[in-house]
Amino acid sequence: MRKNFGPKTAVYPMPVFIIAAYDENGVANAMNAAWGGISEEKEISICISEDHKTTANILVSKAFTVSMATADYAKECDYLGIASGNKVSNKLEVCGFHTDKSEFVNAPVIRELPMAVECELISYDPESCRLVGRIVNVGVDEAALTEGKVDVAKLSPICYDSFNHDYHVIGEKVGNAFSDGKALL
Ligand SMILES: Cc1cc2nc3c(=O)[nH]c(=O)nc-3n(C[C@H](O)[C@H](O)[C@H](O)COP(=O)(O)O)c2cc1C
Repeated sequence: MRKNFGPKTAVYPMPVFIIAAYDENGVANAMNAAWGGISEEKEISICISEDHKTTANILVSKAFTVSMATADYAKECDYLGIASGNKVSNKLEVCGFHTDKSEFVNAPVIRELPMAVECELISYDPESCRLVGRIVNVGVDEAALTEGKVDVAKLSPICYDSFNHDYHVIGEKVGNAFSDGKALL
């Protein structure tokens, strides 16, 4: 027997993306977003509402970064998803986060979050809420690398459980992609 939950916005894993952008005065703001993912080669799509400060900022600056929320900063990343830059002008400061301008796009990189996808705006459709960005660079802090490779244990990205409104850290390795299945070919 299965229990039917109806048409919920639930899949596993859901990301915890922190989308950051500058406003018209170069002030950085960021929000939490779970409804997104890779949609094309070098392209990311995220469903973000028109009324968010981040959306307005992206439309002005034509760029944004998408950082992976991490276990160390789960509380701060949650705050970015419940407070709005429309009311709080210094959300990132409240979190104790610091930003540097991306070398590649006109958008802030949050120093405390070790991995960021740096994007140029391709399009935003207010009706579908769909934001599409061209991935120009993915930057990962050395602190999250082992011998030059991304180390998921060091990065400790979190995902969102929309059934229970919880955050979970990405767990242990259980297989090798494009490889383990060959045993069944
Ligand atoms: C776990 C979580 C996931 C969220 N996912 C999304 C999302 O995918 N799209 C969206 O528009 N808002 C999402 N939100 C809500 C925004 O992050 C929130 O409204 C935020 O205050 C907007 O900030 P801003 O106005 O400063 O841009 C999410 C919030 C949380 C806590």
